[in-house]
Amino acid sequence: MTQTAPVAWVTGGTGGIGTAICRAMAKEGYQVVAGYHNPEKAKHWLEEQRAEGFENIALSGANLIDYEDCEAGVREIRDKFGPVGVLVNCAGITRDTTLKKMSPEQWGEVINCNLNSVFNTCRCVLEDMLESGYGRIVNISSINGRKGQFGQANYAAAKAGMHGLTMSLAQETATKGITVNTLSPGYIATDMIMKIPEKIRESIREGIPVKRFGEPEEIARAVCFLADRDSGFITGANLDINGGQFMG
Ligand code: CAA
Repeated sequence: MTQTAPVAWVTGGTGGIGTAICRAMAKEGYQVVAGYHNPEKAKHWLEEQRAEGFENIALSGANLIDYEDCEAGVREIRDKFGPVGVLVNCAGITRDTTLKKMSPEQWGEVINCNLNSVFNTCRCVLEDMLESGYGRIVNISSINGRKGQFGQANYAAAKAGMHGLTMSLAQETATKGITVNTLSPGYIATDMIMKIPEKIRESIREGIPVKRFGEPEEIARAVCFLADRDSGFITGANLDINGGQFMG
């Protein structure tokens, strides 16, 4: 990167993939702000990053499913570090079960956390991006938003919806120096996939052409690529990183 690195807000920054993204972006010189949900975990997480020499990572505890809280969080980031130039939407949860057993709460929680939050964060950073004539938004979706998944109607709907938002916002901001892209990871070795019962997890692994789960760092390097100032011609795209499990 040649110019001054912007502020990068990574929602879900303390999670499995989020951590790798924060660290990769911090190494590239961004001022990283990691979103979190659990304050205790986040405090410990930040200490770990500091211990490993990452001074340019900070935390934001904004509640992403609450629009006003999100707005306040963006204001706080702007006051401390400057306007958000790169937004990486990586916050996400699963509530896996078949639709016939899924409660309205399980549906709503996932749609709120994985999709409505993306409206909130994008809407709250957009004015600053428009004003500065520069912005990068990377929405972390999923292979299962591309192909569906047994037991994930809520998650797949949210993740597919995310790309609809990406393509629409990309068109609305294309002449303004802002790019908006989706990155769809396959099964990545994080705590999230450890929640899948072992037998099912193993059969999923067998079905991946490269015969292994992905590493969070393999997602992080692609986020850095999409976030780069020199990636200005890539917008409205979806990048699949899934070991060949789905080739859409
Ligand atoms: N295809 C077809 N049938 C399946 C199946 C599948 N993939 N998985 C299970 N079944 C069958 C079961 O064998 C069972 O059949 P019988 O009734 O004949 O025995 C039936 O469907 C119902 O199964 P369950 O009663 O176990 O259903 P459940 O609701 O209790 O559990 C489940 C189902 C929790 C969804 C479980 O199948 C599961 O965990 N699947 C994996 C879901 C998954 O891939 N999640 C991804 C999490 S990681 C992530 O989300 C990150 C990312 O972006 C990739």
